[in-house]
Amino acid sequence: MTAERDHSADAGRPRSGAWFAAEARAGMIYRSWLRAEGFTPEVFDGRPVIGIANSWSELTPCNAHLRTVADAVKRGVWQAGGFPLEFPTMSLGETLMRPTAMLFRNLMAMEVEELLRANPLDGVVLLSGCDKTTPAMLMAAASADLPAIMVTGGPMLNGRFRGADVGSGTHLWRFEQELVAGRMTQEECVAAESGMARSCGHCMTMGTASTMACLAEALGMQLPGSAAWPAADARRYVTAQSAGQRIVQLAAEDLRPSRIMTRHAFENAIRVNAAIGGSTNAVIHLLAIAGRLGVPLRLDDFDELARPVPTLVNLMPSGRYLMEDFCYAGGLPAVMRELRDFLHNDHIGVTGRTLAETVADAECWNRDVIASLDAPLQSPGTGTAVLRGNLCPDGAVIKQSAASPHLLKHRGQALVFDSIEEYHEVAGREDLPVDASTVLIVRGAGPRGYPGMPEIGNFVLPRKLLERGITDMVRISDARMSGTGFGTVVLHVAPESAVGGPLAFVRSGDWVELDTPGRTLTLGVSDQQLASRRAGWTPAQPRWSRGYARLYHEHVLQADQGVDLDFLVGASGAEVPRHNH
Ligand code: FES
Repeated sequence: MTAERDHSADAGRPRSGAWFAAEARAGMIYRSWLRAEGFTPEVFDGRPVIGIANSWSELTPCNAHLRTVADAVKRGVWQAGGFPLEFPTMSLGETLMRPTAMLFRNLMAMEVEELLRANPLDGVVLLSGCDKTTPAMLMAAASADLPAIMVTGGPMLNGRFRGADVGSGTHLWRFEQELVAGRMTQEECVAAESGMARSCGHCMTMGTASTMACLAEALGMQLPGSAAWPAADARRYVTAQSAGQRIVQLAAEDLRPSRIMTRHAFENAIRVNAAIGGSTNAVIHLLAIAGRLGVPLRLDDFDELARPVPTLVNLMPSGRYLMEDFCYAGGLPAVMRELRDFLHNDHIGVTGRTLAETVADAECWNRDVIASLDAPLQSPGTGTAVLRGNLCPDGAVIKQSAASPHLLKHRGQALVFDSIEEYHEVAGREDLPVDASTVLIVRGAGPRGYPGMPEIGNFVLPRKLLERGITDMVRISDARMSGTGFGTVVLHVAPESAVGGPLAFVRSGDWVELDTPGRTLTLGVSDQQLASRRAGWTPAQPRWSRGYARLYHEHVLQADQGVDLDFLVGASGAEVPRHNH
């Protein structure tokens, strides 16, 4: 059955009225089929129709509880006089998907955007959780520009093993090092893994999921305090119900993402990211979201805006606590109140109130978890730094708070690998020509090269050095790093090697100098030598020749531009284009 009427919104009535308000056959089509679900006719009386975009999936363990969260949102929508309709979206399970969930972030964003535009919705609640689902949904909401509130699924309860806190991801890398070094057995690792994931929810370190949940709140796209309630806490469902109530008003007010996610909102988010010791992945995701909105945001903004901001939040991987502790200490409102001198306090988010009003009563209950500006966890300028130099003309990043201070300024000889697989083949060998000063380089792991820019930048150290007690080395790649990872790792080198960036022409034995305080990354090879190495270079053939991966390969942007697809940059708004006749 095909719809025949024009779907564009009519002034003065909800967008959904273009479907449901018509008389005779034109409206009957839409109403009748929806009534097959058992709704009474009042749902078509002009009340706002609220979509609940649900990234629930059993293949995304971090989002596996979102159907229950959706029930709470629905309660709120009904309560406020709206008509809720839940629908499934693509879901991205960070740990399960191959070659990497990041390959599909843009596909999910494209799918959700089109679902929002194609359906009779006046507003939407976005249910996300695992790493890529949050930015994908924010990108979609930005491009469709329909009133939207995000509800992230919340972190897991703190991990516990043998009487100590265990952080998702962070301890995965630590346990791996212990296993490789022979200080932990396989049986002990199996016992540890169940203690690391004790409940529903996303990673409970300040990894990418927690970071993006906090930044969704800092951008003004989720209700205050929402980022930190644990997934298993009843207050997660209170916040979901409140979001259901609020989206009905938001739809009536027509307060759209483009009015919330402004340049000021991104500046706030970047500074909050510095204060929480957030993930380096936030750089890529915020650039992509800003690109959808036409908000001018540069890679260098992340360095310049973050420099005066100290790290306040003492969470793994930069610190020692976990998200449950962060929640009990006051969560993001306490951080934003402490940061007020650095933020645009007149910014208005989904609450419809200014940031200053929103966090006015926020209190910190534990200064060990959320430090004050007077006694910060780490001093200003120790957040994510942006590096430039002849090895990364378009930039690279390093998370200083998760690095070893003695390596932030380092000069060493490169040992180069064309892929992470090539490195893993030899990493256990005793005759690997490597010592603690070596700079390990892995290339071929950028957006186009892998494809999908996997989180391998904090690859495990060579076995022989781990056995000698070395726990960190300078590592450089065009890859990303899990937000739960740590180490002196330079990431997101742009342009990547697969498109002919200088990284493609480094050779083992070349000198490389990392000067994080000076914000430079320098290859000790002259321009002339680099040019001669470049001569005759041809890019490798893509690994996949068809389907979405081909589309991705042909259109993906580099790390400094957010790794979006070039044709998805920008917004189309909520209306379906009219035919020109
Ligand atoms: Fe889903 Fe970490 S694996 S948030």
